[in-house]
Amino acid sequence: MNYLRFLKEKARGYPLTKVLRLEIESLVFGLLSYIPTTLGVLVRGFVCKQFFSKCGGFPWIQPRVIFVHTEKISLGKFFGVNSNSYLNGYGGIEIGDHVLLGSNVTISSGIHPIDGCEPPIITRQSIPSKITIENDVWIGSNAIIMPGIHLAKGTVIGANSVVTKNTQPYSVNAGNPAKFIRYRNNV
Ligand SMILES: CC(C)(COP(=O)(O)OP(=O)(O)OC[C@H]1O[C@@H](n2cnc3c(N)ncnc32)[C@H](O)[C@@H]1OP(=O)(O)O)[C@@H](O)C(=O)NCCC(=O)NCCS
Repeated sequence: MNYLRFLKEKARGYPLTKVLRLEIESLVFGLLSYIPTTLGVLVRGFVCKQFFSKCGGFPWIQPRVIFVHTEKISLGKFFGVNSNSYLNGYGGIEIGDHVLLGSNVTISSGIHPIDGCEPPIITRQSIPSKITIENDVWIGSNAIIMPGIHLAKGTVIGANSVVTKNTQPYSVNAGNPAKFIRYRNNV
């Protein structure tokens, strides 16, 4: 496959308006992601309100967080995310209230179809697969939330976990693949 054909195939399903939006989003969030201090947090929070499908409160976004397809990302109130996390809303990401993400967390809502030997995987269209994160969820650093996953209210995900299954309300889950450890105790 020559490179032009490759690009044409990748652009299928991406009208010009969509491409332009993605470019502007990439430029704006890319530049703003490097501003340190509370000023950076404030500017990014303000811009999220313009781009995201919903941004309930004032999100606390640390430097170098990457957002893609922001028009399909919905945030509740009191959202916090630490540096270098990656959120791709291709298939939709819905996040409730009081959600905290550690650093280097990956939440990507598209599946690359892998079956069959042709065409090469990189040339195929991704399949949208929505990720839902309910209220009061904490996701530890370096965790990966797989496409289609639903994290129930009160879920805790341990550092470095790969979450391949939906979780129970108020459960603590960790490991690769993430397994149920216990429920959050009442204290
Ligand atoms: C998941 C977590 C909250 C669990 O804390 P906890 O309930 O006190 O758990 P414990 O330390 O008692 O461990 C319980 C078991 O789970 C295992 N475990 C805990 N965290 C784990 C993790 N991230 N990955 C794999 N296994 C883990 C422990 O090894 C232990 O296993 P064992 O019973 O076989 O000995 C905590 O370990 C964690 O990962 N926190 C995230 C920290 C972080 O990322 N901070 C920065 C982001 S803001």
